[in-house]
Amino acid sequence: MSNPELDVVEFLLTTAIYSERQDLDPDDLPPAYRAVFWSDGDIERPLSATNTTASEATGVERPWSAVSGLMFTDRDDFSGAISFTDQEMAEEWYIERVDADRLERNPVLVAAFGNEFDLDYETARATNRPARADRAFIDAMLEEAFDSDDEDDEEMLDLVDVRAPAEVETTLNDLVLTPDQEGEIQKIVKAIEHRDYLAQIGLREIGKLLFVGPPGTGKTSVARALAHDLDLPFVEVKLSMITSQYLGETAKNVEKVFEVAKRLSPCILFMDEFDFVAKTRSSDEHAAIKRAVNTLLKSIDEISLIQDEVLLIGATNHPDQLDAAAWRRFDEIVNFPKPDRSMRADILRIVTREMDITDFDPDTLAELTEGLTGSDLRMVLREAVLEALTEERTTLTQADLEDAIKDFEERDNLKNMDMIDGDHDALVAGGDFSEDADAASDGGHSHDHDH
Ligand SMILES: Nc1ncnc2c1ncn2[C@@H]1O[C@H](COP(=O)(O)OP(=O)(O)OP(=O)(O)O)[C@@H](O)[C@H]1O
Ligand SMILES: [Mg+2]
Repeated sequence: MSNPELDVVEFLLTTAIYSERQDLDPDDLPPAYRAVFWSDGDIERPLSATNTTASEATGVERPWSAVSGLMFTDRDDFSGAISFTDQEMAEEWYIERVDADRLERNPVLVAAFGNEFDLDYETARATNRPARADRAFIDAMLEEAFDSDDEDDEEMLDLVDVRAPAEVETTLNDLVLTPDQEGEIQKIVKAIEHRDYLAQIGLREIGKLLFVGPPGTGKTSVARALAHDLDLPFVEVKLSMITSQYLGETAKNVEKVFEVAKRLSPCILFMDEFDFVAKTRSSDEHAAIKRAVNTLLKSIDEISLIQDEVLLIGATNHPDQLDAAAWRRFDEIVNFPKPDRSMRADILRIVTREMDITDFDPDTLAELTEGLTGSDLRMVLREAVLEALTEERTTLTQADLEDAIKDFEERDNLKNMDMIDGDHDALVAGGDFSEDADAASDGGHSHDHDH
């Protein structure tokens, strides 16, 4: 239930207390409040509470109206600043109305009033998203380290995609993992938590994972979800991009990618299409690319979760193409197999969570979808939803889903069909596959029809 009065008083109290107490730092401010006060990578005291800042931070549309009826508030007509005429009275008012759950999400106020609610300041601070993971901080860091007027830096920044954890929508709760995957994730979470201990006992070869599996099995999703759940910035780079576009500068670009990751650490550095490395090593590639790949392997050797706080995750669909040199740089290989029957049923339950489906029976659907990946199942669902919409329905039925599975299989058959020697009946317009067959033959041997 929203309570604009309480929301705005909490904001005013937080800004007032934070401005006074030098022992607090940005990690103590709730992320929504910080977002309002970032300026060039810094949050400076005093924090000014105005209609604008209060509204942006709390989402209350007219903050002053919400609190103007209280005895202890005041607004300066000239500057627009909202303040307390009597802060003690405001504190009493707030303490009477807040509950422990809400208070715990605001470390600044836990530092001030936690005792009265049996709340521990360190715990509240540790659960609050750290300032380093804010978009504004990430942007400031990148701006400081790289020159946007410098062409090379510009190009390099185009090659990496940096996301703040709050911008990642996937969480581990949305994904169905194998026990093996869960185990690996647990190990990494523990390693990050006990980083100091690991450094102390000299265990440094930890924190380089290789995700291996066919397309659509959740490799990218799991890497992103880790960033989201662990509050770590996510730095994604597609290796083929780095080496194909800017031939001359490739080795330098590789080094810069690692520099970005170190700057933003603690963070996750995700390298998709890792098999690319193998291809370039084996074949007769351009010397610049070979240099880049060697730089890459060397950079991987030199980066460490324990020392640099960078968790490196590589992903590939073609583990068979990786040579020993690439393979041994990862300390854990995590297998992403196609989901088995019970995983498929669980994935279907998750992706349909927000939907109305009559007679929904995920176990039967799982039986019908042998060989499909998580991504395929999502596609099946999307088809079923769109089909139903063409009949103006937003409630699906089990039959809709079963039909969508059949359509999906037909599509899949088409994909594998040999367009020259294969079953020509399927290529004749007007058959069951008319639309798809037209599209497929256009790309291949459409002129065959001309004679
Ligand atoms: N195990 C799973 N549980 C829930 N959803 C899944 C699972 N596997 C895949 N998906 C869904 O399928 C979609 C594609 O997954 P993702 O992009 O992570 O696959 P990938 O393994 O990275 O594929 P590629 O090798 O093509 O990059 C995502 O929307 C994801 O949510
Ligand atoms: Mg992927």
